[in-house]
Amino acid sequence: MPLPPSGNFSKSTHAPDNGVGVSSKVNAAYLPPVSAHHLIKPDGDSENGDITVRAMREADLPEVDHIFRLAFGTFINLPDPMAFAAGADLIGPRFRHDPDGMFVAEINGRIMGSALANRWGSVGFFGPLTVHPEVWDQGVGRRLMEPCMDSFTRWNCTHTVLFTFPHSTKHVGLYQKFGFWPRFLTVMMSKNIGEDVEPFKPLLFSSLSDGTHAGMLRECLELTSKVYPGLDLTQEIINVHRQQLGETILLHSTGVLEAIAICQFGLGTEGGPDTCYVKFAAVRPGATAPAHFEQLLNACESLAAQRGLNRVFAGVSTARHEAYRQMIDHGYRNEVQGLGMALDNTEGYSRPGLFVLDDWR
Ligand SMILES: CC(C)(COP(=O)(O)OP(=O)(O)OC[C@H]1O[C@@H](n2cnc3c(N)ncnc32)[C@H](O)[C@@H]1OP(=O)(O)O)[C@@H](O)C(=O)NCCC(=O)NCCS
Repeated sequence: MPLPPSGNFSKSTHAPDNGVGVSSKVNAAYLPPVSAHHLIKPDGDSENGDITVRAMREADLPEVDHIFRLAFGTFINLPDPMAFAAGADLIGPRFRHDPDGMFVAEINGRIMGSALANRWGSVGFFGPLTVHPEVWDQGVGRRLMEPCMDSFTRWNCTHTVLFTFPHSTKHVGLYQKFGFWPRFLTVMMSKNIGEDVEPFKPLLFSSLSDGTHAGMLRECLELTSKVYPGLDLTQEIINVHRQQLGETILLHSTGVLEAIAICQFGLGTEGGPDTCYVKFAAVRPGATAPAHFEQLLNACESLAAQRGLNRVFAGVSTARHEAYRQMIDHGYRNEVQGLGMALDNTEGYSRPGLFVLDDWR
């Protein structure tokens, strides 16, 4: 999970090229009073107790959030690691919606890491996975992956994916052990919102009456199932609506739902205070898809402008070649590149001709 939309990466002092080198170097600065290397046996057990993995609880959230920022901020060498993803929250809102698939690891009763398995119907995605830098490279991350993999099996996911640091042999190696294989870059792209945004008032899910929600969710499922069988964003849309994390844009043409975009923005959301983060967007496949994608991008930018946000931030797999090119033509710039990995190397919905935005964080 290379970066959050609101992270200030200009502060980075540039991590070394190899993720293994990063972790061992940084580890030295974070060694606990008694090195955890001495507490943990190679098989993952501690001399004073095992690495215990259990379901996450609400009371864990502050410590989980702390380790999340510390781990990423340390890995990318932020001068103040805790400044990572300032103003954004990638874990709390997901937990409050549905904690199924969320786990913590403890050593001697102290939380040392967490991991999330997420699902959009038949599609599973993994992350964020974070481990306290004091105990990197001692098997905690591997142990946290196990219940997540069980969750994907239990949910009958047919396409399971993740997003990671392309430069880190450690990350790619860890995930390969669980059957994920590197596929295409996912590019996080951004566009600053100026005054030249075309005024456009898209239909928003929040503006619909309660009685029409179920029907609209069925329309969304019909659309996303055309993109990939069983791809279901229902819970994501409901979560954004109920917790007021942003808006879902709905674009119709001649009475047919042609495109949706689920956007998060505001303090404590995945977007953070200044950014309209497109968590997921999809266009009905077919000859009219490029035109509807253009409209959808305009709608996102218009929404951002109306809400006083500085920019739109969205991820696209470079496997979706036309969508990627159209983003560039539409004025989006590459901000960060991550690596998409897929369980059993499945293509899923990352292929040419599909106009979908997501990043699997
Ligand atoms: C990435 C992270 C979660 C890994 O957690 P961890 O507890 O250090 O990882 P583990 O010790 O369980 O596993 C590392 C595995 O990678 C393997 N590995 C390390 N370098 C490797 C390499 N060059 N090639 C192949 N495998 C490698 C290790 O052998 C180990 O597997 P093993 O236990 O089977 O021997 C942790 O470093 C972290 O929090 N990083 C910052 C946040 C982050 O990057 N999160 C993931 C974003 S996608």
